[in-house]
Amino acid sequence: MIDLDSPEEVAGMRAAGRAAARVLADLRARVAPGVTTGELDAAAGELMRLHGCESACLGYVVGRLTYPGRVCISVNDEVVHGIGRPDRPLVPGDLVSLDVVVRKDGFIGDNAATVPVGAVAEPLRRLCAATEDALRAGIQAARPGATVGDISHAVQSAVQPLGLGIVREFVGHGVGRRMHEEPQVPNWGKRGTGPRLVPGMALAIEPMITLGSPKIVMDPDGWTARTRDGSAAAHFEHTVLITAQGAEVLTLP
Ligand code: MF3
Ligand code: CO
Repeated sequence: MIDLDSPEEVAGMRAAGRAAARVLADLRARVAPGVTTGELDAAAGELMRLHGCESACLGYVVGRLTYPGRVCISVNDEVVHGIGRPDRPLVPGDLVSLDVVVRKDGFIGDNAATVPVGAVAEPLRRLCAATEDALRAGIQAARPGATVGDISHAVQSAVQPLGLGIVREFVGHGVGRRMHEEPQVPNWGKRGTGPRLVPGMALAIEPMITLGSPKIVMDPDGWTARTRDGSAAAHFEHTVLITAQGAEVLTLP
């Protein structure tokens, strides 16, 4: 588990978080009808150079698979870990989730947002707003003395009354010098359970929410997770640092 007790480590995580946020902000601005997801992936590479960081996704190995993109780009029913393609132009009405994970001077910053392409249907806009609200609720619950389960419960409580689906196969996580560290941060759970939060912990909180059933299927590429029922999904994520005062969001531009 990451435990940032030196000021240098905290400074490193702050710088990585800020770089990840700047890349995401600049990338969001490029989302438009006609732009392909392959072009967005290439643009992400240039933006990372510009902001003095590199992709932590490109070349990321899970089992016998190696991730081929610089960022994860997931459209409509794709939930997470979609791969940009030159033959996938965005069209008005699409919902695009951008997940940007960068490494800067050895530290990781991880953040994601779902962006509408042109005018999107009202239920999709509500899905995005609800997912961002759930992230905010999770962040508010993250303070010293609370537990990981308090974050999980806050996210779940924000989503459940709206009748939306909470994806179970993927969870938030600790962040540090590696992208995925202990503890896991599920988007559902009970108050007071799980590891206790202490100053110096860095966590990625990342609700993945669906308009229909939360069940997912994996594409043959081994990475792209999409909803089984074809319903749209949204994904918002911030990296936060637990401090004596509460949660400091590291992924702000
Ligand atoms: N934010 C994603 C995660 O925490 C990023 C995955 S990058 C990939 O799982 F290379 F694994 F796709
Ligand atoms: Co993450």
